[in-house]
Amino acid sequence: MDFRDLLPRRRMVRHYTEEPVPPDVVERVLETVRRAPSAGYSQGQRLLALTEAAGRAEVARVLGDAGWTASDGREPWLESAPVHVLVCTREDDYHERYRREDKLLDGAEIEWPVPFWFVDAGAALMLVLLAAIDEGLAAGLSGVPREAAAELRASFGIPEDVEIVALVTLGYAAPDPGWSAVTSRATQPRRDSGEVVRWERW
Ligand SMILES: Cc1cc2nc3c(=O)[nH]c(=O)nc-3n(C[C@H](O)[C@H](O)[C@H](O)COP(=O)(O)O)c2cc1C
Repeated sequence: MDFRDLLPRRRMVRHYTEEPVPPDVVERVLETVRRAPSAGYSQGQRLLALTEAAGRAEVARVLGDAGWTASDGREPWLESAPVHVLVCTREDDYHERYRREDKLLDGAEIEWPVPFWFVDAGAALMLVLLAAIDEGLAAGLSGVPREAAAELRASFGIPEDVEIVALVTLGYAAPDPGWSAVTSRATQPRRDSGEVVRWERW
């Protein structure tokens, strides 16, 4: 799909049909992350794909939206998604990379201007969101509170040096639940370009 056609379709979808996503489609979407930029080519991005029902049910339980129903006005989000992807980062990849000779500054690892490992995780998940649309899928993004992250780490054997950054849900779009509009352009205006993008001087 042409980028100009794809971008306007980029939005969070929080309710999916029961149609399963073919494994090769999921693989193509997730493979795009290998082409994400990363600071110093540290490649600290990691994904944990959950396609089996038990794993997805565990995520829904931990994140607290298990048991949502349309009849109580809460069409299920996580429970309806046929694919969950935990987007993670391994910070140590950055320290290891920036302690190599070519990255040292006055003989030492740089002072990190911002945590590049989270920047790169964001770039990676953006690729997943866009690749999903390119494959005819829809995607949603959920933050993962600290306590939930600790539980998910235990449930799925995520190593201590890998941090969960966010959860991406993938599937075929079902009609948007009403509650989904609360944090969207349906209820809040998009910031003006002039506020977001400045030219030549702030
Ligand atoms: C880091 C991050 C965390 C987010 N966490 C949540 C979340 O926990 N729940 C949710 O419904 N949406 C979440 N979102 C989605 C935003 O609400 C959404 O991107 C925003 O409202 C703009 O809507 P759009 O992406 O459909 O254009 C998150 C987005 C980002 C980038």
